[in-house]
Amino acid sequence: MALPQSATIVEVGPRDGLQNEKADILLQDKIALVEGLANAGLSMIETGSFVSPKWVPKMADSAEVFKQVTRKQGITYSALTPNLKGFEAAMEAGADEVAIFGAASESFSQKNINCSIAESLARFAPVIEAAQQQNIKVRGYVSCVLGCPYEGDIAPEAVKQVSKQLLDMGCYEISLGDTIGVGTPLKTQLMLNAVLQDIPVEKLAVHFHDTYGQALSNILMALQMGVNVIDAAVAGLGGCPYAKGASGNVATEDVVYMLNGMGIETGINLDALVQAGDKITKALNRSNNSKVANALLAKG
Ligand code: HMG
Ligand code: MG
Repeated sequence: MALPQSATIVEVGPRDGLQNEKADILLQDKIALVEGLANAGLSMIETGSFVSPKWVPKMADSAEVFKQVTRKQGITYSALTPNLKGFEAAMEAGADEVAIFGAASESFSQKNINCSIAESLARFAPVIEAAQQQNIKVRGYVSCVLGCPYEGDIAPEAVKQVSKQLLDMGCYEISLGDTIGVGTPLKTQLMLNAVLQDIPVEKLAVHFHDTYGQALSNILMALQMGVNVIDAAVAGLGGCPYAKGASGNVATEDVVYMLNGMGIETGINLDALVQAGDKITKALNRSNNSKVANALLAKG
């Protein structure tokens, strides 16, 4: 099957990666991470989130990160915003773009954002409306597309339905999240086949956590099906606080290495990316979850 010639990586390390870190994270380290990623050539950087600090304390200083990062031209610094309050705070801090986040699982929606799927869509509507008035693009996430920590299997039909609703509401892209990293390639194919019945492939992104080590295989399947926007977190940082046991996103370094090997352009400098990942893992005193980074760092 034909593969895309180029792919866009959406770097979610500063948000998805850091939101669930155990260690204390200095504001300066967050800023250095975002700047390091920008210097490595990432064009889309999810820089923080404007959620309740009681729910996700590690993102409480997102406004400061946005305000203090030295911006590079041509880069989109985006923010996660669950409601209008979050959207307004994101605008005040200078976010270029926002993302709303829904789920294909009712239980996960309740645990993550304290409301049903239908209620979440009702809360997103004014965010999209306000964003459109200010010419701000809105990305939509759907969580639990290949399984839920509370409900187990999720029907591809449920993923298709909520994805279509978010798209119809005005999201320019839907990022399909395997929040707990349980998916395998054929499940990925079945889920994408269902979603593709209603949504053109150019509107889709994939967001795999790597809990069971399946993320790269699933990404390959998605690429073969024409998806060329891939979410990843440098050094494989992170996890979702409301999905127990879920490990970090697929490591950006591993995705870039795979895409380089397949001749798919990303515009990212792998060595600079590895340095950014090395720096944040050292600052957090944690191991680096990118196999590629570990291999390259070991070579010196
Ligand atoms: P709630 O308690 O139902 O909200 O939480 P509320 O409207 O009743 O407000 C309660 C309190 O929160 C109030 O403060 C509000 O002001 C405050 P209090 O009066 O108690 O002092 N509040 C806010 N504060 C700051 N920013 C806001 C905001 N909104 C309300 N935007 C809410 C509902 C959505 C706020 C809460 O459930 C929440 O913050 N959840 C965030 C969960 C989260 O961030 N999860 C991780 C990100 S999702 C993810 O990782 C998955 C993804 O990566 C894709 C994948 O992997 O599948 C995207
Ligand atoms: Mg995630």
